[in-house]
Amino acid sequence: MEIINRRQRMSSVARKVRREEDKTIGLVPTMGALHEGHLSLVREARRMCDVVVVSVFVNPTQFGPNEDFQHYPRDLTKDTALLTELNVDYIFAPAMEEIYPKGFATYVKVEGISDQLEGASRPGHFRGVATVVTILFNIVRPDFAFFGQKDAQQTLIVKRLTRDLAFDTEIVILPTVREESGLALSSRNAYLDEDERRAATVLYRALRTAKEAYKNGERNSTRIADWVRSTVETEPRARLDYVSVTDADTLEKLEKLDDRPVLIALAVHVGKTRLIDNVVLNRAKQKEDVTVKTS
Ligand code: PAF
Repeated sequence: MEIINRRQRMSSVARKVRREEDKTIGLVPTMGALHEGHLSLVREARRMCDVVVVSVFVNPTQFGPNEDFQHYPRDLTKDTALLTELNVDYIFAPAMEEIYPKGFATYVKVEGISDQLEGASRPGHFRGVATVVTILFNIVRPDFAFFGQKDAQQTLIVKRLTRDLAFDTEIVILPTVREESGLALSSRNAYLDEDERRAATVLYRALRTAKEAYKNGERNSTRIADWVRSTVETEPRARLDYVSVTDADTLEKLEKLDDRPVLIALAVHVGKTRLIDNVVLNRAKQKEDVTVKTS
């Protein structure tokens, strides 16, 4: 395995792999602080592709001015050990200027699906995500790129920009990985103390309540959202930012649920930490979320 810091080296390695060796490349974009959710993406990349590149870059443009960019967990040594075990070929861990050279002035904005849900709570967030993903795709030119369903809106935005900007990359989305408690794995879980960690299980409990209501025939989206809201309110350490019930592919707000796949997404503050989670109802070929044992 090689750790690459320079954009030019990454581009030329990827070009050689593609042209001279005629191999497929899988890219797993990450911000590091890897957990089992990331590792599930890496394993699938390893299974599907000849060469696996994992990028590790904490992207400043997707953080708001009062967000946790400075404190975001970073541990490249630990990440490298985990990725070595999974037989990754390259870690691309660029310095800031390799991604955003001096005078950088070009951003990518995916219109329409970037402004609601996470985009409404975190203005500019998806412009940052779309920009860095575009840069990474241009450097690596992957055949496949892997993202987690936990960031549901991000997956839609990445799929849209891949299509609109004509990248020759297939986007592979893999299920959310959860602890046995139901808590979705996230690098930000590292911020939670023991009590908050327990409190954070309310996100999935709330989503399960909504799922159950739907199973019992509830089709009114306001009432489904109310189930989520009232479940979150049972947890004193939790404060709901938003809950949304939308078409899972377009993020169009739904009043009445029909046969279309439905995304129920929420963001909740637990103490000082903001967490997100979601479930999709009604998807024909849906892979179930994965549960992992935690010590
Ligand atoms: O999901 C993430 O970790 C980030 O948003 C991504 C896709 C690596 C872009 O910085």
